[in-house]
Amino acid sequence: MSPLHSAPSDPADRLIVALDGMDAERALALAAAVPQLRWVKVGLELFVAAGPPVVQRLRDQGKRVFLDLKFHDIPATMAGACRSAAGLGAELITVHACAGAEALAAAQAAAGAGSAAAGLPVPTLLAVTVLTSWEQRRFANELAIAEPLEGYVPRLAQLAARAGIGGCVCSPLEVAQLRADHPAPFHLVTPGIRPAGAPLGDQQRVMTPAQAVAAGASQLVIGRPITAAPDPAAAFAACCAELAAACS
Ligand code: C5P
Repeated sequence: MSPLHSAPSDPADRLIVALDGMDAERALALAAAVPQLRWVKVGLELFVAAGPPVVQRLRDQGKRVFLDLKFHDIPATMAGACRSAAGLGAELITVHACAGAEALAAAQAAAGAGSAAAGLPVPTLLAVTVLTSWEQRRFANELAIAEPLEGYVPRLAQLAARAGIGGCVCSPLEVAQLRADHPAPFHLVTPGIRPAGAPLGDQQRVMTPAQAVAAGASQLVIGRPITAAPDPAAAFAACCAELAAACS
């Protein structure tokens, strides 16, 4: 199992399937039904319902876990949460960049300590900059932040990187700029991915897996195009094939 020091070269290592909208048993069944699947994303919905055992059970299946709980709190609480998440064996963990440099640095240090205490690999923390559900006008009106998002997002990414955070979650539209600012091994994980011809659902601004990797994404989060497919294993294999063709 390779640590995340650089973008994975095997397409199956690039793809993270989001286990959203399902209970623990369905999530575990779906993960088991796609044997080639290596990475899964456990988000707030599944974690709040099923708790830490779901992470352990996915790891028992041999899956690597992205724990997407988007921590945002005071430094001591961020540190405690990241220590615990690392001790569970999560290898990617999200934190909000706007928690600030002190909290981010404390989170990174605690994740290292938590994984060391458990004899596990050090997880990569991923900063969330601005959630893509925000748009410019509401951002200014509701939060009184007038700076254009095109400047605010890279500034938060810079803050996170300087605090020692290993990567960011970003929209497909942000990935090229963030990659230009932060060369590898800074880890860029991109949701909003739709294989060519897949329904958009509620995603507006999407890229195909091949486009996102070409723009600089290290790994991609894909949910419903795989989890809601009639044959999730075939859908996963098709994404891998698309990536392999694009990278050859
Ligand atoms: O099903 P779909 O592929 O749209 O799922 C995408 C996943 O990525 C979901 O877990 C969603 O919450 C997450 N996500 C996103 N857009 C962001 C951040 C996270 O779609 N900007």
